[in-house]
Amino acid sequence: MAFTSRFRKRLGVVALGAVAVLATTGAVPGAAQSGPSRAEAGQADAAQGSGAHADDRIVVGHRGASGYRPEHTLASYELAARMGADYIEPDLVTTSDGVLVARHEPEIGGTTDVADRPEFADRKTTKLVDGEPMTGWFAEDFTLAELKTLRAKERLPEVRPNNTIYDGRFEIPTLQEVIDLSQQLSRELHRPIGIFPETKHPTYFQEQGLALEPKLVEALNRNHLNRPNAKVQVQSFEVTNLKELDDQVRVPLVQLTSTSGAPYDFVKSGDPRTYEDMTTPEGLREIATYADGLGPSIGQIIPLDADGNTTEPTSLVDDSHAAGLSVVPWTFRAENEFLPADYDSSDDPAEWGDALGWAKAVWDTGVDGLFADHPDVVIEAAE
Ligand code: G3P
Ligand code: CA
Repeated sequence: MAFTSRFRKRLGVVALGAVAVLATTGAVPGAAQSGPSRAEAGQADAAQGSGAHADDRIVVGHRGASGYRPEHTLASYELAARMGADYIEPDLVTTSDGVLVARHEPEIGGTTDVADRPEFADRKTTKLVDGEPMTGWFAEDFTLAELKTLRAKERLPEVRPNNTIYDGRFEIPTLQEVIDLSQQLSRELHRPIGIFPETKHPTYFQEQGLALEPKLVEALNRNHLNRPNAKVQVQSFEVTNLKELDDQVRVPLVQLTSTSGAPYDFVKSGDPRTYEDMTTPEGLREIATYADGLGPSIGQIIPLDADGNTTEPTSLVDDSHAAGLSVVPWTFRAENEFLPADYDSSDDPAEWGDALGWAKAVWDTGVDGLFADHPDVVIEAAE
């Protein structure tokens, strides 16, 4: 089917492409475009290949190709695109001067060399992030100029020791740099490389007067990406900010959910609904009033038993499709550490298990896409 040949073509690009960090280009100026309604926008998106067609599934480079490079670096995103990913995924936090940057959480000690920088020693502190104490250094306590002096390092050196050879090489990228890279690679690879940004801890940043959403909308407008057929999807684990963004952006919105817990904005406001409640057929119909896609944990689709082995798939994919939502679960990873027990190859957490088999099992549930730390593996498994 079309899906197979499309992926094969991408893999050909990998073989030919030199993997080098690209210089970034300037922003494309332009204001938000007038255009179709949000419902029409969703249809337009599906028609151009980032929707819920079984033969047009998408691969999202999760934090880039983070199985091979330190996460959320331009090198990681670039490799994901060259491997064939349709989208690259920047998680977004903010600097003290209001610039969106790509990090998985506000605390930056786990993924940068900040702890080795004596000039920033006094910035170490403890904060409550979504009600949980977190100790370290926080992006929002640094200006962009200060953050740019730091260098990324591998988050999981025990599981991904090979990635540590890149420690100290790459900067923390801004959202603008990620957009510039996606546009440059789109031109070079002759296919659109989309972005799949996630607003991280929206309530937390709003409470500090550093809301992420206005900056994200501004960036989409500035780059001529706030239009129905832009290759952009915006995700959040919270609900309120997605509902507000529904009035401000014309690109698809994705509600993230998990096997446990609840959106922090619900917790904060006393709303008792959990992610489990949100993924019932009724909950999915409510999500479909403001979002276009569901981003569940893979474990919500293929639950694990008490021993960590896979069990029968749930009805979540079918229920989501019935509600009109596409389904792009997170996160495929190849190492034993992250695989279900019945796909492990040994007790070594860093060794790869039956990663292709696992990827095939997830594709076989009918999902419309996959977040992957190893985009090449899920593309191969889709053959
Ligand atoms: O955004 C999808 C997936 O990335 C959610 O998990 O924690 O890796 O951002 P996380
Ligand atoms: Ca994410």
